[in-house]
Amino acid sequence: MRKKWIVSLDDYRLASRKHLPKMISDYLEGGALDETTMRANEDRLNALMLRQRSLVDVSDVDTSTTVLGHSLALPLMVAPMGMLTIFHPGSDPAVARAAVGAGSIFIHSAWAGCSLEEVARVAPNNLWAQIAFWKDPAETASYVKRARAVGVETLVVAGDVGSSSKRERDLHHGLSMPPRPPVLDYFNAATRPGWLWGWLTGRKMTYGNYEIDGRPLRMNEMNSWMASNKNPGATWDQFAKLRSEWSGNLVIKGIMDAEDAARAVDEGADGIFVSNHGGRQFDSQPATIDVLPSIVEAVGGRAEVYLDGGIRRGHDVAKAVALGARAALAGRPFAYALATGGEPAVDHAFAILQEELKGAMGFVGKTSVAALDTTIFANNNHAYAREGVLVE
Ligand SMILES: Cc1cc2nc3c(=O)[nH]c(=O)nc-3n(C[C@H](O)[C@H](O)[C@H](O)COP(=O)(O)O)c2cc1C
Repeated sequence: MRKKWIVSLDDYRLASRKHLPKMISDYLEGGALDETTMRANEDRLNALMLRQRSLVDVSDVDTSTTVLGHSLALPLMVAPMGMLTIFHPGSDPAVARAAVGAGSIFIHSAWAGCSLEEVARVAPNNLWAQIAFWKDPAETASYVKRARAVGVETLVVAGDVGSSSKRERDLHHGLSMPPRPPVLDYFNAATRPGWLWGWLTGRKMTYGNYEIDGRPLRMNEMNSWMASNKNPGATWDQFAKLRSEWSGNLVIKGIMDAEDAARAVDEGADGIFVSNHGGRQFDSQPATIDVLPSIVEAVGGRAEVYLDGGIRRGHDVAKAVALGARAALAGRPFAYALATGGEPAVDHAFAILQEELKGAMGFVGKTSVAALDTTIFANNNHAYAREGVLVE
């Protein structure tokens, strides 16, 4: 259901509000505490200005690249998101199929509503699997085994979920487990009949990635499952153990510190995923784009570096790559598209970002992803120059 007026990812954000009850769109759009970090992700990307070049032959701009040896049509992947089921019945498979069509990669969340196996059926070669270190090592081992069985080559360790987040929009809506929304939210949900219909009919309101008694875990059972499985005690020991057992690629997500990045590489990580969870976990920490240069320096080319948080435009992708990321990832924007129009809208979201990236590369006079470097930044990036982030 693509609307003519939708020409940007922000249009999808606004459109998704018309499809989702307020408590669900707040859950999707919101972040932790005062949402300072969430806003900073976008603001700091926007503060970076680019340098337009003239009369450069840009008749052939190539956005393709590789990540860990896998070809991508553009340096952009889908960040792992749990619970896509609550936005649209198409859920993870719809987004994964769109990622395949766009020549991208879908990262399946450890907290997904659909099983890894279901997604692997539609995106067997474009799928990375996120894993969490559960309290019971056997639970983690069994997940790794499932990933291996469906042919996943890259695991993404969730490195920033030891502590619990405080999302105040969700608390106001009573979105605990089980949800206890105020009466007003029931009225609001009734004004979204399409969503309600999907919820009553097609939607699988389960945490289908895990089973209990041979059936998918129900949403209202997730709290007790998490209480007994969540592992705030996970450390680098678990990472080292996984590294010794997993011969495929290993990426760690949630790295925001150069020392941690160096440690991850020393422990054998193939990819460092710079992420503050889109500002959803912990507030009052820097924007990802601000910590990227120091992390790239600490990694020193020994692993690939990826970045997410606030990527909303093709030129944001170019900025991340120019500062040393191998690829950028986006979360919310793909969920906005999914909620608005299912798989065709996610296809469209990819197309928008690719077109914008091509345009940006043309304007800065670069015809390949490899050529994107800090020379693309305007020399009046005062904020960055002051902080010594850009040394041009
Ligand atoms: C609805 C939603 C669910 C998410 N679930 C997970 C998750 O299960 N695991 C994870 O590592 N990150 C999760 N994230 C964070 C994303 O992977 C990503 O870091 C973040 O969305 C990037 O910021 P952006 O939304 O500004 O692009 C989630 C984000 C959203 C919006």
